[in-house]
Amino acid sequence: MTQLEDELGDILQKARDGKSWSQKDLAQSAGIALDAIRRMENYELIPDNASIQKLASALDLHGPSLSAVANEAWVPDPVTPDPGPFDLVCLNVLMGSYPVTCYLLTCRETKATAIIDTGANPETIIKKAQELNVRPSKILLTHSHPDHAGGLSLLDREYQCPTWIDPEDPQPSGSRDLRPVHDGDMIELGNLRIQAVATPGHTTGGMSFWVGESIVSGDAIFAGSMGRANASWPGLFRSITERLLTFPDHYRLFPGHGPSTTVGEEKRHNPFFFAKGRNE
Ligand SMILES: [Fe+2]
Repeated sequence: MTQLEDELGDILQKARDGKSWSQKDLAQSAGIALDAIRRMENYELIPDNASIQKLASALDLHGPSLSAVANEAWVPDPVTPDPGPFDLVCLNVLMGSYPVTCYLLTCRETKATAIIDTGANPETIIKKAQELNVRPSKILLTHSHPDHAGGLSLLDREYQCPTWIDPEDPQPSGSRDLRPVHDGDMIELGNLRIQAVATPGHTTGGMSFWVGESIVSGDAIFAGSMGRANASWPGLFRSITERLLTFPDHYRLFPGHGPSTTVGEEKRHNPFFFAKGRNE
C-alpha cells in the first residue's frame, strides 16, 4: 500500500484542531482567503508552494514536509521485515469501503498467534489464519472504535480466546473474556513478549503493542500525519513525541490506516513531527 491515509485537507483540519482554530482563524493567521482554506479542506484545492509555506508556519508544521505530502511527492520506503523470531502479517479489513489494517502476529517457533485489532468484518483474518495454519489464542485491541473492534464477537466465537484492552477506553462488546492491559504490561505469546505502550489521545485508552523492533500503533500516528485527537490533542501529540518517536529510527510503526513506516521516516518527513522525538 502506498497511498497515504491523510491528504492536505486532513492535515490542515487536524493542525487547526491542535490550536482550537476555526477555518477563519487559520485564514487570518496565514493571510490566505477563507474560501481557499475551505476548498483545501474539501480536497478541491492544492495551493502553490508559497501558500503551503504560509499555512505551515501559521500551524507550526514543517513546510517542506507539508508540501511533499500535499503534492503526493513522498511516501515512506517499504518497511523491511523485522529480524525478530516472529511474523507480522498486515491485513486490510474493510468497513464498507473504508480499510483498516489489522495484524496477525505469530511466534515462528511455537506458532502461537495473536490478532491485533479485529476490524469490523474479520472474515479476512479467519481466512488468513487458516491459510497460515495458525489458531489465534489472544486478541489485542489498540482501541475500541468500531472499525478496529467491531468484529470482536465473530472472532470470540471462532477462537474463544481472551481479549486485552486498556480499561480507560470504552469497553467493546463481543468478548466473553475481556482483560485489562496497562502501560508497561508484558503479554506473552509463545516465546515472544509483547509490551503495552500507552498512547492515548485518539481515544482515552489508546494502546500500542511493541514486539522486537516493531510497534503496532493503532490510530495514534499515520505515515505523514497523526490520528484524529478525539480524546486530547496535546495528549496525542505527547504520546507520539514522547513515546513512539523516542524508539530508534529503524523501528517499524504499523498504523491502523495507511502504509507502514518507521520512526526515522516520520521524523524526517511528517509535517507534524519533523525532527521531533526526544532522543535526538
Ligand atoms: Fe480509531
